[in-house]
Amino acid sequence: MTGFDGENLMDLSTKYLGLDLKHPLIASSSPQSKSLEGVKRLADAGAAAISLFSLFEEQIRHEQEKIEFLIGRTTYTSAESLSFFPQSQDYNVGPGEYLELIYQASRATDIPIIASLNGVTEHGWIEYAKDMVEAGAKALELNIFFLPVDIHVSSAEVEEQYVNVVQAVRHAVTVPIVVKLSPFFSSTGHMAQRLVKAGANGLILFNRFYQPDFDIENRVVESRLELSHQSEIRLPLLWISVLYGHMHCSLAATSGVQGATEVVKYLMAGADAVMTTSSLLRHGESHLGVILAGLETWMAAHRIESVEQMKGSMSLQNCAEPEAFVRANYLKILQSYGKSRV
Ligand SMILES: Cc1cc2nc3c(=O)[nH]c(=O)nc-3n(C[C@H](O)[C@H](O)[C@H](O)COP(=O)(O)O)c2cc1C
Repeated sequence: MTGFDGENLMDLSTKYLGLDLKHPLIASSSPQSKSLEGVKRLADAGAAAISLFSLFEEQIRHEQEKIEFLIGRTTYTSAESLSFFPQSQDYNVGPGEYLELIYQASRATDIPIIASLNGVTEHGWIEYAKDMVEAGAKALELNIFFLPVDIHVSSAEVEEQYVNVVQAVRHAVTVPIVVKLSPFFSSTGHMAQRLVKAGANGLILFNRFYQPDFDIENRVVESRLELSHQSEIRLPLLWISVLYGHMHCSLAATSGVQGATEVVKYLMAGADAVMTTSSLLRHGESHLGVILAGLETWMAAHRIESVEQMKGSMSLQNCAEPEAFVRANYLKILQSYGKSRV
């Protein structure tokens, strides 16, 4: 609770995945949480929780292969395919170091540390989910990065794959699981429900997928990761607004948060928590404080006493103009563009 107009108290607290957070702002997976010092900086800057950077299925397999090789059970055959994947030192730490980081981070801070697994199959690597919980993770985030470039794979098969991964992790652990959802499903709402049925306690909208570019002079595919912009909140904003009130799970927003305005919008759509990475990479961890102060100022100016009061106030089910969400509005927008230019 913080001061509100001298008399009232402003309550920024929120419940996310059953965890009590002091406010809704979470530091999402990024290189800033790669070290214990980085995690401490995020916690000191005021993050309500931290989602660690992801441990990848390929990293775990790589480690398992190395161990099998060293104890003489197998030859180190898949070196070629694994060469596509960066060495641990190039991108992330290995599985052992990841568990150590969870252990240290959860003891060095008084906020929930959420571990993140990035994988696409439901075999072998899921065991690490248990280890992450034992190390101190309060919840597990699943980033199921599956790009069906094989054009023979049907949408039903893709969806099944997501559900299988969630079910497998659900069987492995009892802590809350949250899925960082892809925006590319034919029926986002139906898929969201299937994932919750499979055991997800929360959904993060949306995973910002890697999209390669071309360098046309050198004719190579470029892998450039660009930080997000404000305008990117719109797709998650739409779907959080639609899902709010229909899901038996927590909803978190990721993408495009640069300041307090985006946080207010996401909360009004119906998010229980709001995540940011790009803004912290641009301005440093202390930007968390700037966003939070902006949220408090906005709430005070609008005489809003709690985050709870804001949640879902502009969702589809509570919106004064529900037609703004549907197809008819699309036509209206297209027509209004033409009118404003002539
Ligand atoms: C440099 C960088 C590294 C990231 N690493 C991860 C990761 O390991 N796992 C993950 O789930 N998301 C990762 N993300 C995605 C962010 O957690 C976040 O969802 C995304 O950047 C959208 O949020 P933003 O607009 O606040 O940046 C990464 C993003 C950036 C910019």
